[in-house]
Amino acid sequence: MTRISGPTYYGDYLELNKLLDSQHPKSKEIGNEAHDETLFIIVHQVYELWFKQILHEMKSVQKIFNAPNVDEKDLSSCVFRLERIKKIQGLLLGQLEVMETMTPMDFLEFRDLLVPASGFQSVQFRQIEIMMGLKTDDRMGVDREYFLGRLDKKDQKELLELEKEESLLKLVENWLERMPFTTFERFDFWKEFESTVNAMFDEDENVINENLASLSESALKIQLDNLDATRNTFNTLLDENLHKQLILQGKRKLSRKATLNALFILLYRSEPILHLPFVFLRNLMDIDENFTTWRYKHAIMAHRMLGTKIGTGGSSGHAYLKRAADTNRVYMDLFNLSTFIIPKSKLPVLPNELENQLGFHFRG
Ligand code: HEM
Repeated sequence: MTRISGPTYYGDYLELNKLLDSQHPKSKEIGNEAHDETLFIIVHQVYELWFKQILHEMKSVQKIFNAPNVDEKDLSSCVFRLERIKKIQGLLLGQLEVMETMTPMDFLEFRDLLVPASGFQSVQFRQIEIMMGLKTDDRMGVDREYFLGRLDKKDQKELLELEKEESLLKLVENWLERMPFTTFERFDFWKEFESTVNAMFDEDENVINENLASLSESALKIQLDNLDATRNTFNTLLDENLHKQLILQGKRKLSRKATLNALFILLYRSEPILHLPFVFLRNLMDIDENFTTWRYKHAIMAHRMLGTKIGTGGSSGHAYLKRAADTNRVYMDLFNLSTFIIPKSKLPVLPNELENQLGFHFRG
């Protein structure tokens, strides 16, 4: 490896002059420096640096999944990169504790000087959400006008442009749809699976009826209604039209084919060839869950700092953040698949032809 210029110097390489000269408390500008404002700035800056790294990892996964096929070697790199994102998320969660060493009164020393700035305007946080698959119109926590209106024109344009690209969710959907294993000339896996699951539901109903004596009439009705609802959910997965309706209502995001193939991966994850796809899907769920956990924790922190006051960005504060944590989950379809997981011993036996295929590598 040839050097471009003279010896590398630590501070120059890391551009520390620039980095360490980027903390300028507003309270100092007005001649009354609040001690904790430096902490507030540094914690936010560190977050933004980690967001940058998360985006770097996500973009590389997005690029790999944008190709017509994803081969196993590349899938393995994607799994490692998602693992790294999870580790970074662990740090992001831990940093809230550092932030919470500041008391609400200390925060009040400089809070008003920040208005109308807010983490709500973190473009990188939004880029992460969009790349994960969250669309502006799907943000039920807040309406579109309010959401975009808090950002300057350049940031708005950048985010709307990013939204036109295929998100990870969409690319993963395409990849799942390409999976070749579940339809064969002489074997319809989903027919087999349907009868197994229906038998499982019948068994559940028997258990409820056997416990009849210990249940009040209303408790019995609730349990049977819940079971019926689960049966119906299952039917909406198997019936193309019902599934489409749920997509139109915004209740499902992944196509039926992709959802069924994801379920197949979850069910037969011990087959060697499906192991890596399984870990990949599980990592996506972990990342989605970690963001949700961060959102809740951040909402609680905001509650602790502000009580029921509005945020510096003008939202209802804690109430808005809690709603966003509830609604801005992206990979719900994968989480919901657990409804249809059955014990390994009851899985339909796969025909030899298929078993053999699962022993080889495939290009999805
Ligand atoms: C004293 C500490 C903090 C308080 C009281 C606080 C409070 C709030 C509030 C009330 C909002 C809602 C928007 C608004 O009306 O302003 C918000 C949004 C947000 N904050 Fe914080 N925050 C704090 C620290 C942080 C930190 C350290 C980060 C790290 C980057 C952060 C990132 C965000 C993000 C990304 C949003 C948008 C969330 C969404 O729309 O789902 N906040 N914050």
